[in-house]
Amino acid sequence: MVNNVTLTQFIIEQQREYPGVSGAFTLLLNDIATACKQISHRVNRGNLIGVLGSADSENVQGEVQKKLDIITNEIMINSLNWTGHLAGMVSEEVDDIITIPAHYPKGKYLALFDPLDGSSNIDVNLTVGTIFSILRCREGVDPALEDFLRVGSEQVCAGFVLYGPSTMMILTTGHGVNGFTLDQDIGEFILTHPAIKIPEDTNEFAINMSNQRFWEAPVKRYIEECLQGQEGPRGKDFNMRWIASMVSEVYRILTRGGVFMYPYDLRDPSKPGRLRLMYEANPMAFIIEQAGGACSNGRERILDIKPQSLHQRVPVILGSKNEVERLVSYYQDADKPASSS
Ligand code: F6P
Repeated sequence: MVNNVTLTQFIIEQQREYPGVSGAFTLLLNDIATACKQISHRVNRGNLIGVLGSADSENVQGEVQKKLDIITNEIMINSLNWTGHLAGMVSEEVDDIITIPAHYPKGKYLALFDPLDGSSNIDVNLTVGTIFSILRCREGVDPALEDFLRVGSEQVCAGFVLYGPSTMMILTTGHGVNGFTLDQDIGEFILTHPAIKIPEDTNEFAINMSNQRFWEAPVKRYIEECLQGQEGPRGKDFNMRWIASMVSEVYRILTRGGVFMYPYDLRDPSKPGRLRLMYEANPMAFIIEQAGGACSNGRERILDIKPQSLHQRVPVILGSKNEVERLVSYYQDADKPASSS
């Protein structure tokens, strides 16, 4: 007999291990899953329903919005604001905290999300995704900025949904990482990738090489050594991938190892990195660490960074533990005062 474990069953069974839980968290994850199924449907229908292309508007980061950026943001907000499980939300596409309308009850969680990560890929029919992070909120309050500005290690859950050849949800609640594939016929996410573990070593890296001249010395050193392959200090050949879709890169790393870097670069000194801490780096760092990998900005563990603002950017280096640690050690070497070197 086939015994498929659905996402809901999986979460309920995990929650049962904690006596006294209210079930609100299970329901919240169901709400997120429902929103992502709607997004999956729109992404999949593409130009049949006229959702591709630019929306002729900019988001809070000054980036040109795609039509699907706006549609997916609305799907997330409208699926989550009425259910009574959230006290507030933050989205990549919205400048301020998104409050829960007064006529709806408020819950004890906060959701932070990037409704459509990698959206530059949408018009060329490549994989995009939704990234989310869940924090606990003080009950019965209208959350203020400081309720959201918490270190990543306080996340209670993080996940992303990948709209690729299959639609998949990758999830952690702090007890390992599990992957679920959407069975389109029955409309349920089914556990297909239990207990995902990232190999500690790798010979594959992902970085946007066109920014090479702007990198700091430790990143230049690391990549240079990889490129020297068997003849260089690493003594082995490396392979490179760059999809320009963080969800895809992280999924690949979860599947077969690798290291992903969007480091600090000197193009625009006002931008400390490209990726956003609260709804990109933090949830991915939580997932990567739970799968046995590591995640750093080069000088600090991502999950220890105290956020200063909702849309703060950070450098990100994540993936196979030994490679991330090697690059971090190159930062330490470079940062040593001249006298000690
Ligand atoms: O906004 C984030 C993002 O789309 C990531 O998904 C991706 O890794 C990165 O930007 C791609 O950046 P670039 O276009 O500079 O390579």
